[in-house]
Amino acid sequence: MSKVYTSEQVAEHNSPEDAWLVIDGKVYDVTKFVVDHPGGDEIILDLAGQDGTEAFNDIGHSEEAVNMLKDLLVGSLDPASRPAKREKVASVAQTSGVTTGGEGNGFLALACAIVFFGVAYYVANMR
Ligand code: HEM
Repeated sequence: MSKVYTSEQVAEHNSPEDAWLVIDGKVYDVTKFVVDHPGGDEIILDLAGQDGTEAFNDIGHSEEAVNMLKDLLVGSLDPASRPAKREKVASVAQTSGVTTGGEGNGFLALACAIVFFGVAYYVANMR
C-alpha cells in the first residue's frame, strides 16, 4: 500500500487514539505501537501528526528499530507539502557570546602587566 498524503492530512492524526508520524518522507501509523515503544509513549505522541525524522535520527535508533517501521507504514508524504520541521531555534543563540573570551583574556593580561610594573616601580624606588 502506498498512498500519498499531504502534511495537512498527516496533521489530522495527532491524538493518542489516532497518531501518525512522518520519518524520512514516509508516513507511519504509530497508534498501536506507542504503548510498546521502549522510549515511552509520550515522546512519540508529542510528535503525532508531525515530522519526526530529526527526533528519530537524533536518538540513534538501532537497525531493529528501523526495521520495525515497515509494519507501521501507511504511505508516503507528498514531497510538495513537507511539514514544517521543528527548527533548532536555539543553536545560533547558544554559540554567540563565546567569542568574547578572547577580549577577556586580553584585559586580564593588561591588568597583570599593570600590577607587574606597579610592583617593579615600587621595588625600584625602595632603594
Ligand atoms: C515509529 C517510530 C519509532 C520506532 C519504531 C521506535 C523504536 C524504538 C526502539 C526499538 C527502541 C529501543 C532501542 C533501539 O532499538 O534503538 C527505541 C528507543 C527509544 N526511542 Fe524510539 N522509536 C520510534 C520513534 C521515536 C521517536 C519519534 C522518538 C523521539 C521523539 C524516539 C525516542 C526514543 C528514545 C528516547 C528511546 C530510548 C533510548 C534509550 O533509552 O536507550 N523514538 N525506539
